[in-house]
Amino acid sequence: MPSTKGDVPLISPAQNGLAAENFIHQSMAIIMEDAVKKATDVREKVCEWRSPEQLKELLDLELRDGGESESKILQRCRDAIRYSVKTTHPHFFNQLYAGMEPYSLVASFIVEALKPSLYTYEVAPVFTLMEDAVLRKMIEMIGWEEGGDGIFNAGGSMSNMYAVNLARYHHFPDIKEAGLSAVPRLVMFTSQECHYSISKAAALMGIGTKNVYMVPSDNRGKMIPSALELLIKTAKSEGAVPFMVNATAGTTVLGAFDPIQEIADICEKYNLWLHVDACWGGAALMSNKHQHLLKGIHRANSVAWNPHKMLMACLQCSAFLVRDKTNLLQRCHSSSASYLFQQDKFYDVSYDTGDKSVQCSRKPDAFKFWLMWKALGTGELEERVDRALATARYLAEEIKRREGFRLVMEPEYANVCFWYSPPSLRNLPDGPELWKKLHTVAPVVKERMMKKGSMMVGYQPHRDKANFFRMIVISPQASRLDMDFVLDEIHNLGKDL
Ligand SMILES: Cc1ncc(COP(=O)(O)O)c(C=O)c1O
Repeated sequence: MPSTKGDVPLISPAQNGLAAENFIHQSMAIIMEDAVKKATDVREKVCEWRSPEQLKELLDLELRDGGESESKILQRCRDAIRYSVKTTHPHFFNQLYAGMEPYSLVASFIVEALKPSLYTYEVAPVFTLMEDAVLRKMIEMIGWEEGGDGIFNAGGSMSNMYAVNLARYHHFPDIKEAGLSAVPRLVMFTSQECHYSISKAAALMGIGTKNVYMVPSDNRGKMIPSALELLIKTAKSEGAVPFMVNATAGTTVLGAFDPIQEIADICEKYNLWLHVDACWGGAALMSNKHQHLLKGIHRANSVAWNPHKMLMACLQCSAFLVRDKTNLLQRCHSSSASYLFQQDKFYDVSYDTGDKSVQCSRKPDAFKFWLMWKALGTGELEERVDRALATARYLAEEIKRREGFRLVMEPEYANVCFWYSPPSLRNLPDGPELWKKLHTVAPVVKERMMKKGSMMVGYQPHRDKANFFRMIVISPQASRLDMDFVLDEIHNLGKDL
């Protein structure tokens, strides 16, 4: 047998299993110390801010012909952790996710070590069954008594895109083969407060962002149903064809819940697909006390729900769920690749779920939720939601009590939006001059908190409102003491402005 082909040896250099194991052991120790223990230690910094130029220099990013020593690579691991933002730190409130969830983290490690891809039962038997079990339970919590279908995917934006595609396919099944020429001008409806992925979906799918009709919201950020109906009539009078409504359960900025029952009535009246984007607010379904926020969700045709947000599963963990028993997801997305989905396999091929997906390789994200759900039970998940909302309420009360702080509105969920006025602005009369100055406060406070590394809280302008802070409260990540810390720290960082 030849041992070379041309000048290329046909025998790989023996992989040193022991050296690989040793390297993984050493890096695991670094991960444990720096990315888990230190990252979640309240006495440590949330971030080590560096400008892109500084960071490029520090990280020595260039990839070269020769490899580096193991000790150098371990140092690179330490540096990657050091200069990354610690989103698991107790003072990270910047996004709709936060916190370290140990069971979910271990599930992620297992998944990375096993490297499965969730398309066929033959390569991912365990995770296929786990995904099914988690989807069933989520479907039960939504209240679809006759069952349904679903798929975990790479994020809530993707779930919303699935919804748009499925709604369109449901109304115009010819589109799959004939393309856009098979459909009239289609119009979809969503509130002004919706997540931007709805418009992205319209752009991606050839619907066009101008055909996303933005329904006005009330002053609490909830879609106004009568305005929805008016816009549906407008679209029809233009000769366009309305096909779906997206209702948001837990909006990104204000945490508002659209009135699903009334929207569902309108969808029934006009035969429109109802999708509920519950990526953020879906967690309230876990709570007896707060599930009323999503009243009527069982009437939706599809739901997007991200356990990686309020429920703290590791990123990404995002489910798209459909109230359908006719294999719509499969019919809409399948392409029946003969090298993956052979119909003459020796096992029940209904367990080969990958053809429902628009992805080929797909991570078994449901495992990250399944393991933590097993460990904590529904009871603890419910308590977490209740505690987060109680802590958000505490923060709101504290804001009302403290001089210089003002709520944008009473929180309905875990988004607490507020302004901070430094002492120099407190005696200015309410008017454009004050708001112009207030608008500049949050960006400076944000810059200071980042450079100090003490915490991360988001801010934004919103419609006609000047820049305000948006605190996101996720439990058990955040306690009452952390709420006090945030308000004290904002005052300390901004009192001289
Ligand atoms: C209401 C809402 N929907 C969808 C998304 C998108 O989720 P993802 O970040 O997983 O794509 C977000 C993200 O914050 C959101 O707030």
